[in-house]
Amino acid sequence: MSKWVILGVFIAFALVISCVNSSRFDELYQPNWALDHFTYEGELIKMKLDKYSGAGFSSKSKYLFGKVTLQIKLVGGDSAGTVTAFYMSSDGPYHNEFDFEFLGNTTGEPYLVQTNVYVNGVGNREQRLNLWFDPTKDFHSYSILWNQRQVVFLVDETPVRVHSNLEHKGIPYPKDQAMGVYSSIWNADDWATQGGRVKTDWSHAPFIATYKGFEIKGCECPDKVAAVDNMKRCSSGRDKRYWWDEPTVGELSLHQSHQLLWVRANHMVYDYCSDTARFPTTPVECQHHHH
Ligand SMILES: *[C@@H]1O[C@H](CO)[C@@H](O)[C@H](O)[C@H]1NC(C)=O
Repeated sequence: MSKWVILGVFIAFALVISCVNSSRFDELYQPNWALDHFTYEGELIKMKLDKYSGAGFSSKSKYLFGKVTLQIKLVGGDSAGTVTAFYMSSDGPYHNEFDFEFLGNTTGEPYLVQTNVYVNGVGNREQRLNLWFDPTKDFHSYSILWNQRQVVFLVDETPVRVHSNLEHKGIPYPKDQAMGVYSSIWNADDWATQGGRVKTDWSHAPFIATYKGFEIKGCECPDKVAAVDNMKRCSSGRDKRYWWDEPTVGELSLHQSHQLLWVRANHMVYDYCSDTARFPTTPVECQHHHH
């Protein structure tokens, strides 16, 4: 065999495996809103919000399962009214979505982290927590782990939320739509800070969120491949075994369960599951989740 044939086989193999593991912004992402609100400083990407515009970026590909991590340093000082979001989402009216939303605050007051899960176009599953560190002082890692068994939101590798697959109880679970990865910063002073009472103070603009450490370890789904084929390709079978299908990532470890309990006991400020005013009947998935 000529070395070109070997190279060809190698490339074909790499395309079949399609596992992406990169830390580079340009390889994985592209700005998709307000390109002039981006700055590149070495390994850092800065995105700014001013009174003219917010900004956002999106992954070049869509993925089924895996783990996505961003390291973010949130807007410092007065960030009231601003929201910085990091999320995964599929397209269409029955889309699935896993959200991290960082709600800014006035100087010295704590950020809130809101998470939400949309399944088949329906959200209303907000949880809110404060953090055990100041997210504006340093970079911290925020990750979404997604497999057939669970969606886990992690902050510096500490799980802060788990959305489990309860299909055996007849509850739909997001696992059949490839998702893109997104981040954006925008003005949401109608609701974000202290219930919308504190407005964005534009004299403190621009508001800047800084990113590094871009990482996506997932099963890449080319647009031109049919959804069913992507599902087949991205599921473990006899011939291939993906790490996200291993039993060890199908549920939290004992240590992680303890971490989640600690977060819930000490840092959770709102959980839709216990909001009886909003949901007189406890949402079905809350009845089965053991926290
Ligand atoms: C902002 O600070 C106030 C006062 O400490 C707090 O009640 C609120 O939860 C904080 N976060 C947001 C996003 O409003």
